[in-house]
Amino acid sequence: MKIAIIGAGNMGGAIAAGLAKGKIVKSGNIICTARTQKTLDKIKAIDPGIAVTTDNIMAVKEADVVILAVKPWLMENVISGFREHAAPSGKIFVSVAAGITLDQLCTWISPACPSEVCSFRAIPNTAASVLASMTFIASANADAEQIRLVTDIFDEMGCTMYVEERLIPAGTALASCGIAFAMRYIRAASEGGVEIGFRPEEARKIVEYTVKGAAELLLANGGHPEEEIDKVTTAGGITIKGLNEMEHEGFTSAVIKGLKACL
Ligand SMILES: NC(=O)c1ccc[n+]([C@@H]2O[C@H](COP(=O)([O-])OP(=O)(O)OC[C@H]3O[C@@H](n4cnc5c(N)ncnc54)[C@H](OP(=O)(O)O)[C@@H]3O)[C@@H](O)[C@H]2O)c1
Repeated sequence: MKIAIIGAGNMGGAIAAGLAKGKIVKSGNIICTARTQKTLDKIKAIDPGIAVTTDNIMAVKEADVVILAVKPWLMENVISGFREHAAPSGKIFVSVAAGITLDQLCTWISPACPSEVCSFRAIPNTAASVLASMTFIASANADAEQIRLVTDIFDEMGCTMYVEERLIPAGTALASCGIAFAMRYIRAASEGGVEIGFRPEEARKIVEYTVKGAAELLLANGGHPEEEIDKVTTAGGITIKGLNEMEHEGFTSAVIKGLKACL
């Protein structure tokens, strides 16, 4: 199987890096495209085995799976550049572009027969480069085997959830925007850490490991966050005082409002 990544910038490059580290496809069977050689050089630096080119048509012709990772406003134009070479298909198209629907994708790839285009939307987050992405997938005109294949590809980069297309915007808010929200907590806690006595780099490391530990505890034990909180809150103790102070300042409400503002 060959995989083409059209637009190997931040997200496309992260996917290439994830795939090259994984087992589904050898790096020699990944071909990345970009507009400039500078971007392609960055891909070669990740793994010299990955093929690179500025020629989208050549990449699409060779590939069984075509991952489209250009900016949303360039997608229609980029697809029209290789459309004639996309058929006869059997090819699987996967767009990671925010806001581009499966209907748009199928129509741009085959205006005459959109219902024959096997297409996917996949919304990974930037943790794909360290194989820790939370990725949402939805599909049109795909059979179970094709859904399994695309799920397997993105499972190489972390955790994948197959959803109805209507849930993609909510998934984007929770996981793609969510990674920025988690970062902001890390920054806020680090700044607090400096105020209470640690050097900035120490405070950041402490918070990064604390957040990683919290997520790993929940993932490993399948528990609810409140159960884990109960384990560390002594009656009348300092943890509950800190938590309640944060809630008085609107912590939970601020997070929910922020998520809803992303939709
Ligand atoms: N970043 C995220 O967290 C995230 C999450 C989920 C989804 N996405 C989606 O991922 C897509 C890419 O976002 P990004 O942040 O990775 O943007 P980016 O870093 O700008 O990457 C886009 C790449 O497309 C290339 N490109 C532009 N025109 C091209 C053409 N005609 N043929 C081939 N390649 C072309 C650019 O090449 P040059 O570098 O040579 O100009 C660039 O490397 C977007 O649709 C976005 O919605 C991003």
